[in-house]
Amino acid sequence: MELANKRALITGAGQGLGRAIAQRLAGAGMDIALHYRDSAEKAQQTAQQIKQLSRRSLAVQADLCEPEQIEIMLEKVRSELGPIDALINNAAIFVPTPLEEFDAAVWKQIFEVNVFGPAALSQSLGKQMKVRGAGKIINILDVAAQRPFASHAGYCASKAALASLTKNWAKALAPQVQVNAVAPGIIDWPDFFSDAQRRSYVQQTPLGRLAAYDDVAGTVLFLLKEASFITGQIINVDGGRTL
Ligand SMILES: NC(=O)c1ccc[n+]([C@@H]2O[C@H](COP(=O)([O-])OP(=O)(O)OC[C@H]3O[C@@H](n4cnc5c(N)ncnc54)[C@H](OP(=O)(O)O)[C@@H]3O)[C@@H](O)[C@H]2O)c1
Repeated sequence: MELANKRALITGAGQGLGRAIAQRLAGAGMDIALHYRDSAEKAQQTAQQIKQLSRRSLAVQADLCEPEQIEIMLEKVRSELGPIDALINNAAIFVPTPLEEFDAAVWKQIFEVNVFGPAALSQSLGKQMKVRGAGKIINILDVAAQRPFASHAGYCASKAALASLTKNWAKALAPQVQVNAVAPGIIDWPDFFSDAQRRSYVQQTPLGRLAAYDDVAGTVLFLLKEASFITGQIINVDGGRTL
């Protein structure tokens, strides 16, 4: 897809990986809608930086647990930026769900943010892209969906659900819309990793280091810009750790 003057919506783009993806796509000529929930100041700052690249940018707030807020956000993006050509489902929560106690509220929140939010956005924007005849959706997963952290079963299961939906939407929205996913390995050490576990993780990673935000952002850019005949696929960006 030629990216100049196309429009991307990136969720959770006030900070972290979402922000890095936004900056990378703006650098490639896209106009950017930065979604945030609490990181208003950082999202506004990022929007200003993107405007300095002579791209249009808009920071929009929504709690992905609230379907009405998602609809209001989409209407704002459509009226201020125009129709969206690329959706990046990046926002997620990473919280423990220990075996010792089942907390239904925590499980519900994980699935609301990590699965239902992306589903609402993908269905709404995917249908519009299909009608317009083109579009791309990229879901940010985690290799932990394939090799789970025992302490984070809910998170890992939510990413596995989004992996399944990636394939589902790739079929449902074809041939106009391509739907793919990027599954990073560890970028930021989880708190529960001991020093010994950190050393062992890097030693068992063929490329010998953690993923960087830009490794993932570059793969998103590849899928948007170059991948003309790929759909329903998951690219692991983990330096070979899952081999
Ligand atoms: N970091 C890693 O090591 C790593 C590894 C593998 C995969 N990943 C995946 O990469 C993606 C980004 O990770 P990250 O580390 O950059 O995460 P992060 O810094 O925690 O950012 C995630 C964003 O999600 C947003 N969010 C959380 N709850 C929300 C809600 N209810 N409604 C709307 N937005 C909500 C937050 O927005 P606000 O700040 O605006 O509230 C937050 O900025 C995630 O999908 C994650 O699973 C990360």
